[in-house]
Amino acid sequence: MSPSMKRAPLRVGLIGCGGIVQKSHLDGLLEIPDLVTVSAIADPIPENRNRVGTAADVPSAQRYEDHRHMLARAELDAAIIATPHHLHAEHVIAAARAGVAILSEKPMATSLEEADHILDTVKKRGVHYGIVHNFLHMPGTVEALRILREENAGTPQTGRALSLFGKTADQADPNAVWRASKAAGGGCIGDSAYHEIYLIEAMIGSPVRYVEARVQTKFFDFEVDDVAFLLFEHENGALSTVATSWGMPIGRDGNLCEVYTRTHGIRIVSRGRELFCMDKSNRKWQSVALNHGLDDAALARAGHANCFAATFKALAKGNPPPITCEHARHNLAIIHAAHMATTSRRAVDVKAL
Ligand SMILES: NC(=O)c1ccc[n+]([C@@H]2O[C@H](COP(=O)([O-])OP(=O)(O)OC[C@H]3O[C@@H](n4cnc5c(N)ncnc54)[C@H](O)[C@@H]3O)[C@@H](O)[C@H]2O)c1
Repeated sequence: MSPSMKRAPLRVGLIGCGGIVQKSHLDGLLEIPDLVTVSAIADPIPENRNRVGTAADVPSAQRYEDHRHMLARAELDAAIIATPHHLHAEHVIAAARAGVAILSEKPMATSLEEADHILDTVKKRGVHYGIVHNFLHMPGTVEALRILREENAGTPQTGRALSLFGKTADQADPNAVWRASKAAGGGCIGDSAYHEIYLIEAMIGSPVRYVEARVQTKFFDFEVDDVAFLLFEHENGALSTVATSWGMPIGRDGNLCEVYTRTHGIRIVSRGRELFCMDKSNRKWQSVALNHGLDDAALARAGHANCFAATFKALAKGNPPPITCEHARHNLAIIHAAHMATTSRRAVDVKAL
């Protein structure tokens, strides 16, 4: 029932019941019973199906091994896609053909051709498509963006984001983990730095236009990237960088996103869990109180919970979700441009992709 859907709670089917659904999605969905009911689930792994089905109180007849059976038989208004990256296009297109609204985990797809096929299908089928850019909904990010928009902090001229993490050798085994497999759409830029790319773009407040980059494999014996350095020129002329790796376990200082105006610095840490501001006249970083009242566990999943609330509120009114397929394609195009720039050793114009 999309895009004119006007009902609540919306009946949602989950395609994929793995790590992120169990860690974050499920609690977020169960917190908004007025907006959503988990009506059906699909996952080929019985343990994942049972764990999620039990926690969400889904009747056993509505727990499917095959997403196609779920889409054919269950009465649904929307589907959430949380499967490995190479399956997103297939699952989104199946959901669009079933006529339900879609909220997909990132990235939209593994290639721009797949992304365009998705765009074309959701348009033809007249269904809403949203993507999960959850860290835009974290308390620190929301407050940083408010300060940049509403207080006299000035226009961001430069920025940088760090997405530096450490993986162990077994986490980097492509036979055991799809994230380390090229065929499954793995790699640190598309999996981890994906978030820092939309965060730095939002903080700068202007779309990325030109991309220079080196995307490489330095730390592990696999085919996907484990380190990438990106340089962006934004449409308004601002400059920013993103550094990402799975071989640089720096700890807390390895994950931040910050911008500088002529008068201020504004920094979110751990993807919006914390926020700091600096007035350049005294050069002291001050912590900004966020007053969210959440414990650590609730704060860790607040991005998903707030993203789901905003998305399903919009869908219930028949409106598009906050982050649409055009945003999703744009973020994917930046990643694609980074790979192209690595090969050509030239800047790539994202608008031309
Ligand atoms: N936004 C975030 O912060 C965030 C965090 C983690 C993961 N993710 C995204 O969520 C998605 C899933 O990641 P994950 O960590 O949960 O992976 P995972 O490997 O833990 O879970 C994937 C699940 O998909 C299931 N699956 C595989 N093929 C399927 C099919 N044909 N039909 C239905 N289910 C199928 C698997 O059995 C598994 O249960 C990815 O797109 C990932 O990038 C997003």
